[in-house]
Amino acid sequence: MKQVLFVCLGNICRSPMAEAVMRDLIEKRGLSDQIKVDSAGTSNYHIGEPPHKGTKAKLQEFGITTSGMQARQLRSSDLHNFDYIVCMDESNVANTIEMLRAEGDVKIFRFLDLTTHKKDVPDPWYTGDFQETYELCLEGCEALLNRILDDFKK
Ligand code: 4NP
Repeated sequence: MKQVLFVCLGNICRSPMAEAVMRDLIEKRGLSDQIKVDSAGTSNYHIGEPPHKGTKAKLQEFGITTSGMQARQLRSSDLHNFDYIVCMDESNVANTIEMLRAEGDVKIFRFLDLTTHKKDVPDPWYTGDFQETYELCLEGCEALLNRILDDFKK
């Protein structure tokens, strides 16, 4: 069993998008018993809220549900409970390391560093571009799934 936590600032736009896309990929591959997915925000701004309507609408276009999802803040126990702590941008990486007192921990990394893009996921809270978020999340999740499947073999 491997556990994945996606992290962004608000836990309403990018990390819930990645969580829902990843869960969908895992279900389609029949891996739901082996890989669990969650998400959290570094901030407390939106605790308890459902995903942003832009994230929800974009996922619905691709037949992916956000039912039951609720924003929560990153907590110190996350460091022990997850095998991969996957941050949407460089500031999320820095804040996560600080909040979890986890300097040097290789399980914390930037999502798109797994892809050829090696950049931040632009924040649709500011850009309004949820299609871009979806496409980058899908590409990142496919790369992450391959990484996890490789790690299972070790
Ligand atoms: P997210 O986007 O980190 O992808 O969930 C944001 C959501 C809310 C805010 C900023 C970014 N905010 O400032 O409230």
